[in-house]
Amino acid sequence: MGVPFLDLKAQYATIKDEVLAGVASVFDDQAFVLGKYVEAFEAECAKYLGVKHAIGVSNGSDALLISLMAAGIQPGDEVIVPAFTFFATAGAVARLNAKPVFCDVHEDSFNIDLKSAAAKVTKKTKAIIPVDLYGQCADMEGVLDLAREHNLAVVEDAAQAFGAVRHGRKAGTFAHYGCFSFYPTKNLGGAGDGGMIATNDDELADRVKLLRLHGERPRYHNKVVGICGRLDGLQAVVLSVKLKRLDQWNGRRAEIAARYNGHFEGKLATPPVSEGNSHIYHQYTLRLNNRDAVAKKLAEQAIGCGVYYPIPLHLQECFKQLGGKKGDLPVSEKLCETALSLPVFDQMTDAQVDEVAKAVLAAV
Ligand SMILES: Cc1ncc(COP(=O)(O)O)c(C=O)c1O
Repeated sequence: MGVPFLDLKAQYATIKDEVLAGVASVFDDQAFVLGKYVEAFEAECAKYLGVKHAIGVSNGSDALLISLMAAGIQPGDEVIVPAFTFFATAGAVARLNAKPVFCDVHEDSFNIDLKSAAAKVTKKTKAIIPVDLYGQCADMEGVLDLAREHNLAVVEDAAQAFGAVRHGRKAGTFAHYGCFSFYPTKNLGGAGDGGMIATNDDELADRVKLLRLHGERPRYHNKVVGICGRLDGLQAVVLSVKLKRLDQWNGRRAEIAARYNGHFEGKLATPPVSEGNSHIYHQYTLRLNNRDAVAKKLAEQAIGCGVYYPIPLHLQECFKQLGGKKGDLPVSEKLCETALSLPVFDQMTDAQVDEVAKAVLAAV
């Protein structure tokens, strides 16, 4: 039969009329960039996340970039970043001519290893970017303790964790800045690029708003050099429709993960949920020693799967000049060889979950 890695068409079928009505309103009002639909979505996000400010931006990468700019990161500053994450986490640092300093992650949670991070702190360290990878929060209390000790800005990369909760708080609300991505494949995904920065600090929110609009205030008077980092009205209306269903969809993701766990328990290491976390399973990720062979067998049966990520950031070609070597960050390196993500999407049926699980068990 086959199972896709992600089926956005199935999700769209459940919301099509509402999405198209929203899109029509944007055209009727010709409110394409920022404006009332973006403001409405920002207010809905702020309420959902329980933060004072949710600021719509162009994408998740720019959310990170703007946050680092707002934190005053300068050329030569060091920013600690886990080596096992999507490139954008480190790319934002390098874009400012600052230095990403890579640390390792925990093998079970896939999230930042604070011992490794603490060992990387120097006098030049100015910020740290924990990532809530695959949909569960990093040890944010630990990150905040480390940051307080060394006076670091904290940018929480919650691009994969909209709606995840840790000890009663939503992902992306722990730090000075919380960054989200609305890339279409995200659990809250738009119809193109989009992103968000959450903060409880009025002053930081003001700086973020200034920076997302070329540092312009008032019009054509540029106080600082910012970027073109605005969110579109079309994205906002689509995302507003989806936000209303997000808890239900995240709940279905958790059910799917539980069903996978039921199949794999006692046979494979299932992805553990860290104490205090509620995981939204942006990805359901196994660690398999014969990962590539399993992926090949799944592909032969038209079953989708994903490798996030095949290369740790300290070994990426573009960071060669930083001197990272194989063996520096062994857990990240091992995960790049073993991590395999299985299909998880809100409209996935139990029968599809069972088919994937059966194929995995036959392949390992
Ligand atoms: C962990 C992480 N950080 C940052 C980003 C960047 O988001 P975007 O693709 O919206 O720029 C992504 C998404 O792709 C991500 O998964």
